Amino acid sequence: MTPSVNENKQPVPRHIAIIMDGNGRWAKNRGLPRTAGHAAGAEAFRKIANYCRTLGVEYLTVYAFSTENWKRSADEVSGIMRLLGNYLKEALRDMEKNRVRFCFFGDLSRLSPNLQKLCEEAQSKSSDYDVQVNFCLNYGGRDELVRATRLFAQDVVDGKAQPQDLTEEMLSGYLYSKDVPDPELIIRPSGELRTSNFLLWQSAYSEYVFMNVLWPDFGPDDLDEAISQYNRRNRRFGGV
Ligand code: IPE
Ligand code: IPE
Ligand code: MG
Repeated sequence: MTPSVNENKQPVPRHIAIIMDGNGRWAKNRGLPRTAGHAAGAEAFRKIANYCRTLGVEYLTVYAFSTENWKRSADEVSGIMRLLGNYLKEALRDMEKNRVRFCFFGDLSRLSPNLQKLCEEAQSKSSDYDVQVNFCLNYGGRDELVRATRLFAQDVVDGKAQPQDLTEEMLSGYLYSKDVPDPELIIRPSGELRTSNFLLWQSAYSEYVFMNVLWPDFGPDDLDEAISQYNRRNRRFGGV
C-alpha cells in the first residue's frame, strides 16, 4: 500500500505511535500541580489526533497510562482517570463528527466500572469508522506478552493448538494489537531515551524519534518534524 501524502507532499506512515510524556515537568515548570500538566497533555492529544486525521494517518496509538503508572500518588492517578473519563464522554458526544474508531490496549479490568463502561461504549459505537486510535490504558508491553502466552497456553490445553505450530504471526494474533499493522514510527517527546515498556513486540522494526519537547507543548509542527526525520531514515529490515 502506498503511504498517504500530506499538503507538504510529505509521505506519512500508516501507523504512528506516541509515548505522551512530559506532562509533569511541563506543570512543574509553571508552578502548577501535575494534574494541570495532564489536562494540558489531553489538549495536546486532541490537536494531534485531529492533525493525524487530516494527514491521512490510518492508525494512531497513544500511551496514556502504563502498568507502572499506578505507583504514582492516588491524587495524580485519580486526576488522570477523571481526564480520561471526560475525554471519552466528549468523544462519544462528537462521534459522528470525528468518525474515529476507538480501540483500547491494556488490562481495563483494573479501571473503575464507570471508565470501563465508557471504553466499551466508545469501542462498540465507533467500530464502523476508518481512522483508528488505540488508547494504551493500564498497558505494559511485558504484561501484553504474558497475557498472550496465557491465551496460547489455554488454547493448547483446550486442544485447539500445538506448541510446535506457534508462529510469529499467530503470536501477534494474541496481542491487543491483533489486526493492526506494526507502527512504522514511534515518537517519544520529553527528552527521555527509553521505551518504558511500550509496544515491545510491535516495535521490532519501528523507527524511533526522540524529541526534546514536553508533550503538552507538542504540536503539528513537531509531528511534521518527526515524520520528516522518519522519511530520511533508511529502513533495511536486516537486509542490505
Ligand atoms: C506522561 O507524563 C503522562 C503519564 C505517564 C500518565 P508524565 O506525568 O510522566 O510527565 P513527567 O515525565 O513526569 O514530566
Ligand atoms: C511512559 O512514561 C508512560 C506514559 C507516557 C503513559 P513514564 O513517565 O511513565 O515513563 P518513565 O517512568 O519515565 O520511564
Ligand atoms: Mg514521564
